[in-house]
Amino acid sequence: MTRPTEAAVLTVSAAGAVDAEVDAVVIGVHRDGEQLSLGPGAAAVDAALGGRLLDVLARLGANGVAGEVVKVATLGATTAPVVAAVGLGPVEPKPGATDPHENYRRAAGAAIRALTGAERVGLALVDSDPSLTRPVLEGAVLGAYDFVGYKSELPPSYRPPVREIVLLADATGRGEIELQGETDRVKAVADAVRTARNWINTPPNDLRPPAFAAQAAEAAADADLEVEVLDTDALKAGGYGGILAVGLGSEAGPQLVRISYTPAAYDKHVALVGKGITFDTGGISIKPAQNMQDMKSDMSGAACVVAAMTAIARLQPAVKVTAYVPMAENMPSGSAYRPGDVVTMYGGKKVEVLNTDAEGRMILADAITRAVEDEPDYLLETSTLTGGQVVSLGERISGLMGSTELLARIKDAGARTGEPMWPMPLPDEVRSGMDSAIADVTQINAGFDRAGHMLQGGSFLSRFVPDGIEWAHIDIAGPSYNTKTPHGYTPKGATGVPLRTLVEVVEDIARNG
Ligand code: BES
Ligand code: ZN
Ligand code: MN
Repeated sequence: MTRPTEAAVLTVSAAGAVDAEVDAVVIGVHRDGEQLSLGPGAAAVDAALGGRLLDVLARLGANGVAGEVVKVATLGATTAPVVAAVGLGPVEPKPGATDPHENYRRAAGAAIRALTGAERVGLALVDSDPSLTRPVLEGAVLGAYDFVGYKSELPPSYRPPVREIVLLADATGRGEIELQGETDRVKAVADAVRTARNWINTPPNDLRPPAFAAQAAEAAADADLEVEVLDTDALKAGGYGGILAVGLGSEAGPQLVRISYTPAAYDKHVALVGKGITFDTGGISIKPAQNMQDMKSDMSGAACVVAAMTAIARLQPAVKVTAYVPMAENMPSGSAYRPGDVVTMYGGKKVEVLNTDAEGRMILADAITRAVEDEPDYLLETSTLTGGQVVSLGERISGLMGSTELLARIKDAGARTGEPMWPMPLPDEVRSGMDSAIADVTQINAGFDRAGHMLQGGSFLSRFVPDGIEWAHIDIAGPSYNTKTPHGYTPKGATGVPLRTLVEVVEDIARNG
C-alpha cells in the first residue's frame, strides 16, 4: 500500500463533556415512541446550554433513532465548539433487539464517521455504566478508518478520519488507571482489525501469495511470534496437493504460513485456519466479469487469522494458539488445474475436482490436515467460502458449521463482539451427495446441485477433521466485505469480520478451557 492512513490515537482525559479540550464531544440521545430524551453524557452539556439542548436538537430534526448524528454548535457554552448527539434508539431496547452494547458500539462508530475531518473528538457517551466503556471505545476506533492509499492526489473534498479519540473519564465514573487498561485492550484488537482491513483492501496485484506470506511473516515476527513459511518448493516436497493444485494457474506460487503463540503456561491448544486466496477468478470455471474485482477480498479469512495472532500476542491469554494460513491465487492459464482432475491432497485423500471455483476448500483441506498433526483441542477455520452463505444468511450474519457445543460458544462470542453468526447443519444427504464414482470425494455436489451449497463447503471440510477435535467452520463470504455504504463502525470494503470473535473465543478458552 502506498499511503496507509494511520490508526487513531486513543487517550484518556479527566475532563468532562463541558470542559474537554477537543474539536467535538459525542453525547447520546434516545428515542421512545414520539419522545426524544437526553442520553449519556448529555446532562452536563444541557446545563451549560441553559437547559435548551433537547429543544435545540428537536429543532435541528433529531429523531434519536439508532445511528443518527446531529451536530450542535455550542458558541462558547462548552470548551468544544461542537457537540454531536448520536441516536441510541429506545432507553429500554425491546426483547430480541440488537444487543445494547452493540448499539453503543455502532453509535460511537457512526459519530466518529460523521465527525470525519475533526482532529480530536471526546467521548462522553459512556456515562456511568462501566460495561459500556469498551464497546464505545471499540466502535469509535473501528469507525476512524478509510482506505485511500492509491490516490495520486487527495481531492479538496477529502476529509481524513478523526486523529485522536479522547475518552472523557469524568463521564465513566471510573479511575484513569483502570481506563488505561481498557484502552490498551481495545488498541490491541483495533490495531489488528486495521491490519486485516488494510491487507484485504490492498489491490490483488500488490498482494499475491509470496508478498502476502512475507508481510504475514513480518507482522508475526514483529509481534514476537514464531513463524514458518512453506514456499511452493516446500509445499511440493511436503505433498500439499490441494494448495498446489489451486496455485498451478498463477506465476505467483502458493504458500503456507504457520504462526505460533506459546505462553509460559497453558492447558489447551487452539488451531486457527484462514482462507488466503489473494484473488479468485474462478480459474478455468471462470467467474463473470461483474464484481469480480471484489474477489480481492477472498483472503479475508487469512488476513483476520494472521492479524488476530498479533492481537493475541499482545493480550497474552493462557492458551497455545497456532495459525495455519494457506495462500494461493486462483487463475486460469495453460498450467491451471481443471474440472475432472483428481488431486491427491496432503494426507493422501483423493479429491475429484468438478469446479475450479470451489478452490477455497482445496487449500483449506490441506491446511486443516496440517493443523491436525499438531493435535489441537479446538480448530477454528474461517473463509469466504461460498456465495451460498450470502444467499442464506445475508451480508451481516456469518454461517457456522461444525461441533455443536463449540458452535454455541462461537455464536455467543459473536453476539458479544457484534459479529453475528448462526449455526447451520451438516446433514448426511449433503455428505453423500459428494461421493465420487472414481475418487474418495467430489469437491462439490456430484450432480452440480447448488441448493444449500454453503453446507457442501462445510461438509467437504468436515471430512478432513478427525473425531475428538472440536472444530468450527465460519463462512464469512458476505460479512467480511461491505460492498455497500458504511454503517455504524463498519467502513466500505473490508470489515475485519470475524477477527474480534476469534480473539474473544481464544480468550474464552484460555479462561474456561
Ligand atoms: N470466493 C468464492 C465465494 C464468495 C462468493 C465469496 C461471493 C464472497 C462473495 C468461492 O471461492 C466460490 O467461488 N464459491 C463458489 C462455490 C461453488 C463453485 C460450489 C460459489 O459460491 O459459487
Ligand atoms: Zn474463493
Ligand atoms: Mn471460487
